[in-house]
Amino acid sequence: MCGRSRRYGPEARVPENETALKNYKIMLSEKMQEALNAQINAEMWSAYLYLSMSMDCAAKGHKGVANWFAIQFREEQDHAQIFMNYVLARGGEVKLAPIAAVDTAWESPLAAFRQTLEHERKVTAMIDNLCRIAEEERDYATANMLVWFVNEQVEEEENARGMIEAMEAVEGNKFGTYMLDKELAARVYSVPSPLAKGE
Ligand code: FEO
Repeated sequence: MCGRSRRYGPEARVPENETALKNYKIMLSEKMQEALNAQINAEMWSAYLYLSMSMDCAAKGHKGVANWFAIQFREEQDHAQIFMNYVLARGGEVKLAPIAAVDTAWESPLAAFRQTLEHERKVTAMIDNLCRIAEEERDYATANMLVWFVNEQVEEEENARGMIEAMEAVEGNKFGTYMLDKELAARVYSVPSPLAKGE
């Protein structure tokens, strides 16, 4: 009985050396960790893109649109933070790669919003790809964490489409453009729920 409990009891699962103990802490597969790190970089690139749009709009006098993109810049940093918190929570390693350059000027706020929609569609495809990897790796915790991002992308695309429609509706109308810009100046930042939990 005694020998049997040594072979099959909980102590049988304790790693025997330091290397094994180190590996024991990592609960993400290498493939999953690499994909999550790539997504952190993509979210930071998104933040950089929207910051650039914000700066360009501010320089051209579109204060409200600049505010809208400044909030988007913060939200993208939050997205990266959510992924970073998650990788750390799973015992993984966050590896920050260089952020590639972004455009610095747009023909109009409408052009910036059109690029925003195009970009968010790419991000949606990236999140879908992460879901596929999580499924392949049978990583149910990551799959569950990604549900928030799947829903967030629906909202991101809807917001960008809404902004394109609003911009198109006032195109060529100075008063309409002025009023829309004023409305966008009122957009406020709110902490996303995965980060708000820890407050
Ligand atoms: Fe992080 Fe706009 O998606």
